[in-house]
Amino acid sequence: MENFAFYSPTLFAFGDGEARRSGELVRQFGGHKVLLVIGGGSVKRNGSYDAVTASLKEAGIPYSELSGIQANPRSGKVYEGIDLCRREECDFLLAIGGGSVIDTAKAISMGVPYDGDFWDIFAGKHPIETILPVGVVLTIAAAGSEGSDSCVITLEEGNLKWGCPKTDVIRPKFAILDPSYTCSLPAYQTASGVTDMLAHIMERYFTNTKDVDITDRLGEALMKTIIAAAPKALENPGDYAARADLMWAGMLAHNNLCGTGRAQDWASHQIEHELSALYDCAHGAGLAVVMPAWMEYVLPHDVNRFAQFAVRVWDCEMDFAHPEVTARAGIARFRAFLKSIGMPLTLSDIGARAEDIPTMTARHGEKPGGFPLGRFVKIGPEEMTSILHLAE
Ligand code: NZQ
Ligand code: ZN
Repeated sequence: MENFAFYSPTLFAFGDGEARRSGELVRQFGGHKVLLVIGGGSVKRNGSYDAVTASLKEAGIPYSELSGIQANPRSGKVYEGIDLCRREECDFLLAIGGGSVIDTAKAISMGVPYDGDFWDIFAGKHPIETILPVGVVLTIAAAGSEGSDSCVITLEEGNLKWGCPKTDVIRPKFAILDPSYTCSLPAYQTASGVTDMLAHIMERYFTNTKDVDITDRLGEALMKTIIAAAPKALENPGDYAARADLMWAGMLAHNNLCGTGRAQDWASHQIEHELSALYDCAHGAGLAVVMPAWMEYVLPHDVNRFAQFAVRVWDCEMDFAHPEVTARAGIARFRAFLKSIGMPLTLSDIGARAEDIPTMTARHGEKPGGFPLGRFVKIGPEEMTSILHLAE
């Protein structure tokens, strides 16, 4: 295991009805006036918006509102939010929704105290020093932004989907996780979220670091729980127990507990961001296409790790004489699981075209850090091209 520092200071209030604590928690973390950040309207239909605004009113905390954040959030709403936040003199961002809304709130919180263009921070030209505090009321178990040190925004000019440099400073002050709000999710969004949280664990699981049993076992427990809960939530969207498992798993998958002390990969995420930038697909759906193709491509690098994954996560029988057979069976079961929950498996399933692959690799090359990507196996433009062709 490698040396590490793990700092995850978010307060999590978990369970049915916890949104009634919104006002109290904003106060606890120093907020006097809130900018609410919401998406296209689901929060007004599932009760979360009403619960939060009632709690703010009860606590005597005024609020303004930025609405209409779309999935794969774009820079225009960040600029609009920075202006609004300054004009209304808000000192606290409260996101009600999923990763897109939370990331917009995080980007606004970085941009308000900075005189220049917030994108400078994403481009690595300005460090993240001070930010406004951010709170979250989560309504979809997926991206894990409620506990994460990252934030992903698409710059409209050039359609560049980039993450900001990772930093503990942007972890939310608090996150309210009420699984009942996720019961209104369409099946496709539930499944995309499930895929994303599995991918967050897998990006950490496939490592070259030795002696990482504790985080291997943590990741395996989470993956098995998610794999068991997903069909239950899809069959019965109101299954509170399954929704609760998924919601807490989504946070644990990405606050980096499972990544402590080990080198992490993240190639599949980087490749997927080019897909969702170009085709506006759900992030989890893009991962369903990329991740198994990446696995096939890198499998020869460490057959035994893939065989372990197959046996411990997918209950495959170990073929000691032919570990590669076991390893491949694990990937096949992962694909079958994705299919069973309604996820796409190929580029064409999400409307992506092989002729756009050079555009995607070129765009990735423009990112700070660009190539090579991935730490389990280093991926250059040619390897990224091969992986995307495997996903055709
Ligand atoms: O806009 P509304 O009407 O709210 O609808 C949303 C949206 O269309 C809907 N939704 C959310 N909660 C709902 C609901 N519909 C019915 N009932 C509910 N309870 O779901 C749709 C997707 O929402 P979104 O916020 O986009 O989902 P998700 O949480 O998957 O976030 C995806 C974004 O997060 C980024 C992704 O790249 C993508 O841009 N990521 C952020 C990360 C981070 N900051 O740590 C890490 C991830 O790897 C990821 O890259
Ligand atoms: Zn993700």
